[in-house]
Amino acid sequence: MASFFITTAIDYVNGMPHLGHAYEKVLADAIARWRRSRGDDVFFLTGVDEHGQKVQQSAQKQGVEPQAFCDEMSAHFRRLCERLGTSHDRFARTTEDSHKRVVAQFLQQLHDAGDIYFEEHEGFYSVRQEQFVTEKDMVDGRWPEIFGDVVKTKEPNYFFRMSKYQDWLRTYAEEHPHWIFPSFRRNEILGALEKPLGDLCISRPKSRLSWGIPLPFDPEYVTYVWFDALVNYVSFSKWGQRDCRWPADVHTIGKDILVPAHGIYWTIMLKALGIEQPRRFLVHGWWHLRGEKMSKTTGNVVDPLELIDRFGADAFRYYVLREMAVGQDADFSPENFAQRYRSDLGNDFGNLVNRAISMIRRYRGGNIPSAPIDPDIAAAIHETRDGVAAAMDDFETHRALERIARLTQRANQYVDERAPWRLAKDPALAADLDAVLATLADTVRVLGILAEPFIPHTAARIQQQLGMDKPDFRFAASVPDGRLAGQTVGEPQPLFPRIESPEDRRAP
Ligand code: MSP
Repeated sequence: MASFFITTAIDYVNGMPHLGHAYEKVLADAIARWRRSRGDDVFFLTGVDEHGQKVQQSAQKQGVEPQAFCDEMSAHFRRLCERLGTSHDRFARTTEDSHKRVVAQFLQQLHDAGDIYFEEHEGFYSVRQEQFVTEKDMVDGRWPEIFGDVVKTKEPNYFFRMSKYQDWLRTYAEEHPHWIFPSFRRNEILGALEKPLGDLCISRPKSRLSWGIPLPFDPEYVTYVWFDALVNYVSFSKWGQRDCRWPADVHTIGKDILVPAHGIYWTIMLKALGIEQPRRFLVHGWWHLRGEKMSKTTGNVVDPLELIDRFGADAFRYYVLREMAVGQDADFSPENFAQRYRSDLGNDFGNLVNRAISMIRRYRGGNIPSAPIDPDIAAAIHETRDGVAAAMDDFETHRALERIARLTQRANQYVDERAPWRLAKDPALAADLDAVLATLADTVRVLGILAEPFIPHTAARIQQQLGMDKPDFRFAASVPDGRLAGQTVGEPQPLFPRIESPEDRRAP
């Protein structure tokens, strides 16, 4: 069995989760589920990033201890995962002792090797980004908005000798064309490496920031942000154990944290530590709302839980995975969401399942007939399987869902063409009716398997309604072979019922 280890970024807990966070988890979950359906031994890691100045400040504002604040906020993120139905194997929290131990061990190793040094540094410090910036970061003589307030400070700190690895990283980036997906983003790393890399400040004096991980070689200092957060990928991979899952096959991240955080810092940290590199980065774009990035800093956000409450987790999952072309940005629109729910999910997908089950009950007392599968539909199923597999191997969920939608439409069209209600009127056409019903039962079964990575709750309900007593989501089972013949279907229940909009309710 092939091993497959996939991660998401870990979210800052200084604000509530929004649709952008939810998307990343659902994207990674769809890939994890897809790989499981192919028979891989999957390890899926997600979690939260709990240290740093912003968390300390937010806790202070509320008058609670940072740990209590983190406990409460992390619960919101964990709950989001539950509501989304993500199939993660581990939920990482950077305040866990096991993580802190690995961070300390790595810092000590780099310090012993001379890759971490102490130096007084006078410079500009961005309060919002919690990092030193240089005049090179200015645009037209001003600090860009993203840095917030920039102040001049003088402070001795520990630095990671990143500059030493610049040439190595350039060669590594050049020699690994598949390292970053989509591939054009590798250029951002190569571009950043055209300028000399400075060394990375990795510490804060405890007097200024206490909510971090103490440096093992100087208890007056803590590390925070990247040297803490990035290490989670290794520290939660069962590091040091016999069944350790490192290296990650896929790190799922947003485009804002590829350069410099992952593509430069993380890659060099691993190199310096002598740890194998992750195989690939899957870099997704941003969800926008009203033309701007969804962000808790600006408050321009959509609450995923509200959508889940109203439409269900699968509708949410379907919408984000169908609407965003992986790697590009997408715009959230409530109208578009409602439209996809009504049309793709309700009228097409849900309706097909409902029609199939209802007709098997009406015309055959619920028993799925044994009959040959329509060859055109069988061919369409094979084509869909190939298309879904190719799309998912390229992380392109929107293309996979497009294929599934096409098969759904084809099957609905088949029902209209063959008109089982007419065949049922003529006993001489009983064999034809059997073939239509057997074809529909198998198509619905296969659609359930192929759709499982995206809409897992619905997929489980389809198998229940088909009367299958053991769920089977193996991709290998998604072939049209009439294996349900002789089984009895269950109650048809609408998968995506019509939802009145608040506007409808107000109408007279
Ligand atoms: N804590 C760091 C990541 C550390 S990973 C070792 C962080 N946290 S975050 O909460 O700001 O973002 C978490 C993830 O959500 C990132 O991958 C980020 O790109 C993603 N998103 C945040 N806003 C987003 C959108 N509007 N759209 C899509 N994803 C975006 O960065």
